[in-house]
Amino acid sequence: MAILSFIVILAYILSSSLAIELDYIHVSKSLSDGMTLVSQGGTFELGFFSPGKSQNRYLGIWYKKIPVQTVVWVANRANPINGSSGILTLNSTGNLVLKENETIIWNTASQKQAKNPVLELLDGGNLVLRNDGDSNPKAYLWQSFDYPCDTQLPGMKTGRDLQNGFDWRVTCWKSPDDPSPGDLSYGLVLSDYPEFSIMNGTKKFSRIGPWNGLYFGGVPNMKYEYIYELSYVTNKDEIFYSFSTKIDSLITRVVINQTSEHVLTQYLWDDKVQHWKLFGSLPADVCDYYGCCGAFGYCSAADTHVCQCLKGFSPKSPKAWNLSIWTQGCVRNEPLSCNVTSSDGFLKYTGFKEPDTQHTRLIENITLEDCEVLCLKNCSCMAYANSDIREGGRGCVMWFGDLIDLKLLQGGEQSIYIRMPASELEISRSHKKKVIISATIAATCGMLLLCYVIYKVRRNIAEKSKAEYFEGYVNDTDLPMFDLLMISNATDNFSLNNKIGQGGFGTVYKGKLADGQEIAVKRLSHSSGQGMTEFLTEVKLIAKLQHRNLVKLLGCCIRGQEKLLVYEYMVNGSLDNFIFDRMKSKLLEWPQRFLIIFGVARGLLYLHQDSRLRIIHRDLKLSNVLLDDKLNPKISDFGIARAFGVDQTHGNTNRVIGTYGYMAPEYAINGLFSVKSDVFSFGIILMEIISGNRNRALCHANETLNLVGYAWMLWKEDRPLELIDPNIKESCVIPEVLRCIHVSLLCVQQHPEDRPTMASVLVMLGSKMDLVEPKEPGFFSCKLPTEVSSHSDQHNIITLNDELTVTSLDGR
Ligand SMILES: *[C@@H]1O[C@H](CO)[C@@H](O)[C@H](O)[C@H]1NC(C)=O
Ligand SMILES: *[C@@H]1O[C@H](CO)[C@@H](O)[C@H](O)[C@H]1NC(C)=O
Ligand SMILES: *[C@@H]1O[C@H](CO)[C@@H](O)[C@H](O)[C@H]1NC(C)=O
Ligand SMILES: *[C@@H]1O[C@H](CO)[C@@H](O)[C@H](O)[C@H]1NC(C)=O
Ligand SMILES: *[C@@H]1O[C@H](CO)[C@@H](O)[C@H](O)[C@H]1NC(C)=O
Ligand SMILES: *[C@@H]1O[C@H](CO)[C@@H](O)[C@H](O)[C@H]1NC(C)=O
Ligand SMILES: *[C@@H]1O[C@H](CO)[C@@H](O)[C@H](O)[C@H]1NC(C)=O
Ligand SMILES: *[C@@H]1O[C@H](CO)[C@@H](O)[C@H](O)[C@H]1NC(C)=O
Ligand SMILES: *[C@@H]1O[C@H](CO)[C@@H](O)[C@H](O)[C@H]1NC(C)=O
Repeated sequence: MAILSFIVILAYILSSSLAIELDYIHVSKSLSDGMTLVSQGGTFELGFFSPGKSQNRYLGIWYKKIPVQTVVWVANRANPINGSSGILTLNSTGNLVLKENETIIWNTASQKQAKNPVLELLDGGNLVLRNDGDSNPKAYLWQSFDYPCDTQLPGMKTGRDLQNGFDWRVTCWKSPDDPSPGDLSYGLVLSDYPEFSIMNGTKKFSRIGPWNGLYFGGVPNMKYEYIYELSYVTNKDEIFYSFSTKIDSLITRVVINQTSEHVLTQYLWDDKVQHWKLFGSLPADVCDYYGCCGAFGYCSAADTHVCQCLKGFSPKSPKAWNLSIWTQGCVRNEPLSCNVTSSDGFLKYTGFKEPDTQHTRLIENITLEDCEVLCLKNCSCMAYANSDIREGGRGCVMWFGDLIDLKLLQGGEQSIYIRMPASELEISRSHKKKVIISATIAATCGMLLLCYVIYKVRRNIAEKSKAEYFEGYVNDTDLPMFDLLMISNATDNFSLNNKIGQGGFGTVYKGKLADGQEIAVKRLSHSSGQGMTEFLTEVKLIAKLQHRNLVKLLGCCIRGQEKLLVYEYMVNGSLDNFIFDRMKSKLLEWPQRFLIIFGVARGLLYLHQDSRLRIIHRDLKLSNVLLDDKLNPKISDFGIARAFGVDQTHGNTNRVIGTYGYMAPEYAINGLFSVKSDVFSFGIILMEIISGNRNRALCHANETLNLVGYAWMLWKEDRPLELIDPNIKESCVIPEVLRCIHVSLLCVQQHPEDRPTMASVLVMLGSKMDLVEPKEPGFFSCKLPTEVSSHSDQHNIITLNDELTVTSLDGR
């Protein structure tokens, strides 16, 4: 008897301490406090919770796997339950009803026809109510993604459903203890040229800017979408954007919070430290606060005078302006003439976040010239621009009335034409030089755009005439076969004058096809010993790799013993020619170097992860990073090591191929290669770009530390800034450089498992999140570890010339 009652008690204790987890809720099954509904993959959970110090109960969704309770959605956010007697039921007409003691706290009111409805929590965090058996998203009776709280999850829309009237907008919690709606919200502000903004009540707080086809106007670096993909949709039924992560395992959310200085923030979950890390936030600087410089003023956070008047304007109240009270803005020095249409004109500005789009008109199908004419006709039209900047620009948008909230951006590409009286235009013309200097960013962007257009045109011409040259195509691929005679002509019969490089696999020549297109031809050494079929198989694989940060293989040529690879020609040669050259390194300032670092990282990530094949480069070094006419970096020689190493299986090789100074210890010593050995080489590249020194350059003057060792020493002594190349001292942005140094040290850590993947490298470089401390790096002394020499017979290690890729192919 006693035993039996003990068992009963035990059973009672167990059932009350273990939450009951449900997969579905049917009409006959309800959810009461203490039970949860779990998503199929176990990512999210719906249940009752109390936020912060509050005793109130709310029905909400949170991450099941994350120990820090992170609520992403609340049903009854403004109407709490006072005790633990809340119960969620699904009634037969397909509506959810949340009750406490028969009082309705919250309910849905779908008008759609319900037939055997079920409630399910999807693994992306969407709570959906649907008819059993019908999983078409369009047919959902109701879904929580239509009623966002303060969090935008991947796959969730932000914007407007014009058909059904949904305003997909996130609204902050009042406080960490109270999920009821606070003042700040983030969503779409409708107008002819709609834009996303953070609002304080009905007032604008910060503008993200309108979508221009590439990015939201105020966030130009969004176009380097390295961790997430954005889709922007606009049609007569809906205008919205949503994002998805490019890296499956990444857990990320965007949240709006009025108690935080980071109002709208994207967080990433860091599994290692079990912590949410900040990835980016808005407002990012003082210029992101709406209208801080008033009408016709523009904001430049990097300048000592944050607010300035546009050309031809002066502060409305010079006194206030002098006291840094800018909100009154600026007024014209000369009035517009208006009545004589021909006497007004426009000044072009590039690289600005466009002004507030509340009073705009959008005409999608007219040219920029017609746009100008139309704007001139209406006296209150103050500016015009292309609404979409892709492919040289299209669409016409016109601004009426005061221009508010202009911001000078780093790296913006969009141009806007601002109306000026003829007299001011004359002045501007005679001061053209000054204008150009005062808007350096604008000028360079304009030039880049021009270069791009020329490049495009050239490419089109090249594409058309190229067809004439091709002998044929390699079976079932698009890889063109070039004719040997043609390449021989193009390179002047492989003349020494045309030689531009020498690597372990052969010699590289510059060539010019009859149509003027420049090419780079790699003539492989005869001794490679690889069969023709294997060669073709490998080359076909490589031909499928397409990424803007990889040099493009245009085709190949095989004739007898001759094997040639034809690549696009990179005008600016290899990166080492810039970094290690006393004169040319001055041309490459920090912002450009930073972009190059990103480009190389993206290209490598593609090789490692995003292409259909997993490719380990194995010979990443500065001289294998080429620069095109716009100084975009492109990795070359990718996969060639692989192409030649049929006997090199995954992970281990008895022929170490690489370049001393860039090789990871486990690769050089034991022949083990992996994506992490490429990450090591990337770390070296990073250090060389920052310091302007070769890894082994320091070794000559009786030094015992190489560059890695030197960087590690400076880091430990807390003076990492001394690593920076004197040539970029002026242009560098200290936090960016510091971050790069930190990341480079993480990449060159001794143990491969400590090094980050390229995906995390990109995340780390692009965010403000905290980084872990690096551990001791590998290969930091000038002397080779003894193992290398003792194993070198076995593993065929190789000459020690810094410039050359070293291989042991000859021995075959
Ligand atoms: C919960 O308490 C608040 C105030 O304490 C009250 O206004 C509200 O009506 C109560 N809710 C219910 C369901 O009794
Ligand atoms: C189901 O709930 C909704 C919302 O509370 C209500 O309008 C509807 O009448 C309910 N249906 C039934 C059958 O109770
Ligand atoms: C609801 O009912 C429970 C138990 O019947 C009671 O303890 C609680 O006070 C009631 N809550 C409200 C708000 O009336
Ligand atoms: C929002 O506006 C109100 C009223 O103007 C102001 O008191 C409050 O500080 C503003 N909130 C923020 C976050 O700026
Ligand atoms: C908002 O920010 C405050 C302060 O940083 C923090 O305590 C709180 O948890 C945040 N709220 C949300 C919902 O993230
Ligand atoms: C603004 O301040 C500067 C000195 O800081 C002074 O020379 C100038 O006269 C002031 N201008 C006005 C309009 O107050
Ligand atoms: C119209 O043009 C004349 C001469 O160009 C100028 O004096 C006058 O101010 C203009 N009127 C308006 C309303 O701008
Ligand atoms: C532009 O589109 C409008 C409406 O879509 C149409 O009426 C007009 O004819 C079009 N204009 C041109 C130049 O194609
Ligand atoms: C100028 O454009 C504004 C805004 O579209 C409009 O309200 C106004 O009527 C236009 N004026 C003329 C003269 O067309």
